[in-house]
Amino acid sequence: MFQKSRRAAAALFAMMFLLAPAAYAQIAAHSAKLPNVTILATGGTIAGTGASSTTTVGYTAATVGVQSLIQAVPEIARVANITGEQVFQIASENMGNEHWLQLAKRVNVLLGQANVDGIVITHGTDTLEETAYFLNLVVKSKKPVVVVGSMRPSTALSADGPINLYNAVNLAGSPSAAGKGVLVAMNDQIHAARDVTKASTTTTDTFRAAELGMVGYIQGGKPYFYREVTRKHTVDTEFDVSKLDALPQVDVAYAYANVGDVAVKALVAAGAKGLVHAGVGNGSLPARTRPALIAAREKGVVVVRSSRVGQGIVARNGEANDDQLDFVAADTLSPQKARILLMLALTKTSDTKDIQRMFYTY
Ligand code: DGL
Repeated sequence: MFQKSRRAAAALFAMMFLLAPAAYAQIAAHSAKLPNVTILATGGTIAGTGASSTTTVGYTAATVGVQSLIQAVPEIARVANITGEQVFQIASENMGNEHWLQLAKRVNVLLGQANVDGIVITHGTDTLEETAYFLNLVVKSKKPVVVVGSMRPSTALSADGPINLYNAVNLAGSPSAAGKGVLVAMNDQIHAARDVTKASTTTTDTFRAAELGMVGYIQGGKPYFYREVTRKHTVDTEFDVSKLDALPQVDVAYAYANVGDVAVKALVAAGAKGLVHAGVGNGSLPARTRPALIAAREKGVVVVRSSRVGQGIVARNGEANDDQLDFVAADTLSPQKARILLMLALTKTSDTKDIQRMFYTY
């Protein structure tokens, strides 16, 4: 009996030894067909953990490392050759200009490598739209860059992180996603970085572009595009952060009934080089705030009129005479995104006519 089993084992070993090269070649051939996607992890809820499976608020963001995120979704290894890097591990309300510069430089180095076909960035949802728009203006490659997060922590019932990550990896590995600027993949939808915003504090369909619309869907791991991005981005922008170690200080002052000028004055006194006014309505300037904004401009601070409304155009010379005040109109950019464009604009110029051109271009 023992002799029989030894012979059987020897035969099996011989067969495996002979077949191994063929099997290896088959695996290698399959892997060679897959796109090479790098996942850059930054933290957020997608890397979050809660006390129980029903904890969907009050969890801890930014606790799960990139390798655990990858191992939790084995399906992504079937659609791409994955590498992971933990760039940082933060809740995204703590995202800062220094994080953006570090991330943008790493993205540009990786995309310059022939062995990287696309990048996925896992990110907290609170400032996800801002990071996406910043990268949309400074990434110097046409290869796909997809920003993804989740609204439920990895430990929650029906966590949305795994499917969002699977979708994002598929999108980042898709040639059809190239040249469209930085994309956001959430809730089976594809959004352009410029127009998407977080529209709900807790629901999984929170990322929306109410009036300008999303650009497509991901279904069964396949992207379907229905819209083109019309504003310039990535390789077509004039912005280059490769040699920058800091960005100009630009802040936002929010308007509301009864607002005064304290915030504007404080931000200017603290050294703001640019100021975005999140006005009511069509970027209206409250009478008690207006003098402080004019004084800011006279001090050389570039003032951009945006709106807290969230949709629609802030028209130049509409609610205020921008020509006379030498202010810039934000077009359709939200205050938080107008801040990003103004920051990058100020790395190139302080000429308000040139900056207005940028707000009509990007
Ligand atoms: N602390 C928030 C953040 O990191 C959690 C929200 C989320 O990631 O969905 O953005």
